[in-house]
Amino acid sequence: MTPAPAASSLYSHHIDELQRRTAVALERGGFDHLVVPSGTLHYQVFDDRDYPYAVNPQFKAWLPLTKAPGSWLVATPGQRPKLIFLQPFDYWHVVPSAPSGYWVEHFDIVVIRRPEEALQHLPAHAGRCAILGEPQSALGAFAPNNPAAVVNYLEYHRAFKTPYEVAMMREATRRGVRAHRAAERAFRAGASEFGIHLVYCQAAGQDAGDLPYNNIVALNEHGAVLHYTERDLVPPKPVRSFLIDAGASHHGYACDITRSYALDTGHEFQAMIDAVDAAQLRMCDQVRAGVDYKQIHVDAHLALAGILWNFGVIKVSPETALATGVSSAFFPHGIGHGIGLQVHDVAGFAASDEGGTIAKPEGHPYLRMTRMLEPGMAVTIEPGIYFIDMLLDEVKKNGHGASVDWARVEAFKPFGGIRIEDDVVCTEAAPLNLTREGFAEVG
Ligand code: GLY
Ligand code: MN
Ligand code: MN
Repeated sequence: MTPAPAASSLYSHHIDELQRRTAVALERGGFDHLVVPSGTLHYQVFDDRDYPYAVNPQFKAWLPLTKAPGSWLVATPGQRPKLIFLQPFDYWHVVPSAPSGYWVEHFDIVVIRRPEEALQHLPAHAGRCAILGEPQSALGAFAPNNPAAVVNYLEYHRAFKTPYEVAMMREATRRGVRAHRAAERAFRAGASEFGIHLVYCQAAGQDAGDLPYNNIVALNEHGAVLHYTERDLVPPKPVRSFLIDAGASHHGYACDITRSYALDTGHEFQAMIDAVDAAQLRMCDQVRAGVDYKQIHVDAHLALAGILWNFGVIKVSPETALATGVSSAFFPHGIGHGIGLQVHDVAGFAASDEGGTIAKPEGHPYLRMTRMLEPGMAVTIEPGIYFIDMLLDEVKKNGHGASVDWARVEAFKPFGGIRIEDDVVCTEAAPLNLTREGFAEVG
């Protein structure tokens, strides 16, 4: 957890930026204070087992604290932000350790021992507070009200990462690519999906509670299940291909990385992976200021349909494949999404910081972002080609069966699918590809 020396100054700038954003957001909503509970533990119904704790993203936007339930942040324009930090008397669990590190000097910190003690330190008038959180976090008069004017402003601007946030995402990426390399080695050594998953977690130094999302570790046909989260204990025979979509976290920030591999079976699936990889790099290069993210998505359909055409899987032009929905049968998800504090970051459709949404292109319901790219935005670029029976049956039912060479589909189906996913930051100049940079560093 030792940050690079630069983290301190980057963090100082980050807090200044949050203070600035908060002042505008509060003015828009007509409030004096921003109050953010870190969240509470949730329990399974009729049981005393708690669900994994997930910190309120509005809280971790300020603080590199992801395991501090029952704490509160108070930000008031013109004042140092205040952290009300719950460090309970509890001999059943490890309690959050006392605040320390590069961030503490930026806060007035009070330590409380019981959750209700927070009331003594929260602002005097709850009615003057924008309280951002979930209903379960309510404490006395401090029930989350999530005013739209405040939330819209903060979430819209959260798309623009501060240099501190990019540094945190870079650290998450370092962890993720190390684990991806270990997972690839395990795949080539013949491990099962479950075995590869364990190797990944070991190399990342993180498990389900720390990872930003559930690992997707898919061998052979399982690569065709977009969110495949089963994990077979035994490897299939023979093993042909491997799709891994797995991330890592650092101080609350995520990376989201997918790679696809094939064993050397002499099949052209590896060549198709290489073609998707090359096309993906060109898509990443489109992450530039003033580019419409929707356009990257539409262009990706054309590029992927071009690959399918080159490999003889489809028999129509990319333009026809896009217009008839045939490309969507092979590429049935969006080109990506914003990323940062949340793996699918907020405000992907936001029309402005006052609200409103930018519609998805017709026929593309799973695109998660429709905004214009601007410097500071971090997005994923994750094209894929899959061989999914259910969707290919639809192509036939919709009268486009003649667009597809079904024998070629059968030849590729045993390999499941391909996805290549990088995290890319839009800058004033060339895009910054955190994932490729991370792989290059790890070697
Ligand atoms: N890992 C989920 C996604 O790529 O969006
Ligand atoms: Mn993603
Ligand atoms: Mn992913």
